[in-house]
Amino acid sequence: MITTQHPVIQLENEYVVQSYKRPPFVLERGEGVMLYDTEGRAYYDWVAGIAVNALGYGDPELTQVIQAAAAGLLHTSNLYYTAPQVELAAALCEKSFADRAFFTNSGTEANEGAIKFARKVAYDSGSRNKTEIVCFSHAFHGRTMGSLALTPKEKYQTPFKPLLPGVTVAEYNDIASATAAINDKTCAVFVEPVQGEGGIYPASTEFLQALRDLCDQHQALLVYDEVQCGVGRTGTLWAYEASGVKPDIMTIAKPLAGGMPIGAILTTEAVASHIHPGDHGTTFGGGPFITSVAKYVVERISQPQFLEQVREVGGYLMDRLHEINSPLIADVRGRGLMVGVEFTVDVAPIIEAGYQNGLILVNAGQNVIRFVPPLVVQKDHVDVLVERLTVILADLS
Ligand SMILES: Cc1ncc(COP(=O)(O)O)c(C=O)c1O
Repeated sequence: MITTQHPVIQLENEYVVQSYKRPPFVLERGEGVMLYDTEGRAYYDWVAGIAVNALGYGDPELTQVIQAAAAGLLHTSNLYYTAPQVELAAALCEKSFADRAFFTNSGTEANEGAIKFARKVAYDSGSRNKTEIVCFSHAFHGRTMGSLALTPKEKYQTPFKPLLPGVTVAEYNDIASATAAINDKTCAVFVEPVQGEGGIYPASTEFLQALRDLCDQHQALLVYDEVQCGVGRTGTLWAYEASGVKPDIMTIAKPLAGGMPIGAILTTEAVASHIHPGDHGTTFGGGPFITSVAKYVVERISQPQFLEQVREVGGYLMDRLHEINSPLIADVRGRGLMVGVEFTVDVAPIIEAGYQNGLILVNAGQNVIRFVPPLVVQKDHVDVLVERLTVILADLS
């Protein structure tokens, strides 16, 4: 571990808005699932830039695709047609429930757009009080004013109030609570099929089916936020496939371009037919460079053998984590390569010990460590993780 005397850390302290708490080392390069700091120390990366770097670091094919895309058009704006955007839209629609796509630059922007789409559908129905949105306990939908309103965490919300009004928070995985919350004033219900930041909680099929039925009953849109759990993370291309329950809108982002910023709103023709020129837009979203890269990443991740590998290594990870015999572990849960271990204690010292032992780990709330590695992680990487984590937990308990 290097010290806070490193010039990069000093410069960061002097010039960067202090909105992030960072460990005292400077990452310099990566290869596969490994990251290396400026002192040459190696770390097994179980975070992947928070469920982003699906193909790991330095993937030779991805690098080639990026280089080729960089030699072409970088940006044209959405005023003009370019091939990569429409080809990516076609690929995403062919591989999902959706008929149409709208591209953004991030997950929170995709959710902001989804809020607007839902409002527009409700507006066109003529019902002027159909403006409310239902979200769920422990949800995380982003940091901008609309998506923040759907992220019911006091610490994140309180200093920024007033937020978007008309939001009701129901209990996740609780059908009675959802039934009480959703009514004719509801224009949309936002749910993560597997909650990420909230602590890695999969939604039950019954819960998603009940949300689908309630949305149909009250003419509300069912919006899946697959920003963290989508694009192969859970071992199927979309997390909702495990339930078979389809949404009206799905937002995706994080791994879509293998580490570069992009998001998307996928939706049905029934919803998209309400969106006309002027209703929504973005300067950068869906530009030719980023969509060329995303097209490649989606093709690669949606290969059956790629997804099979995610399921197999994910299952192995879950089994091996279950085997750790520590009084500090309260639960192991998740799906595919989106696994959470709940501890009986604050996980900050475990993450800190991880750095000392060559593991990059991240929390999801105070008591959960979530494992969201590059999707190319292998069983022998899992073995190293479990071996080191076992020692760390023995030391701490
Ligand atoms: C489920 C979910 N939705 C939305 C977001 C926000 O995405 P972004 O940070 O790209 O704005 C995140 C980010 O962690 C997320 O996990």
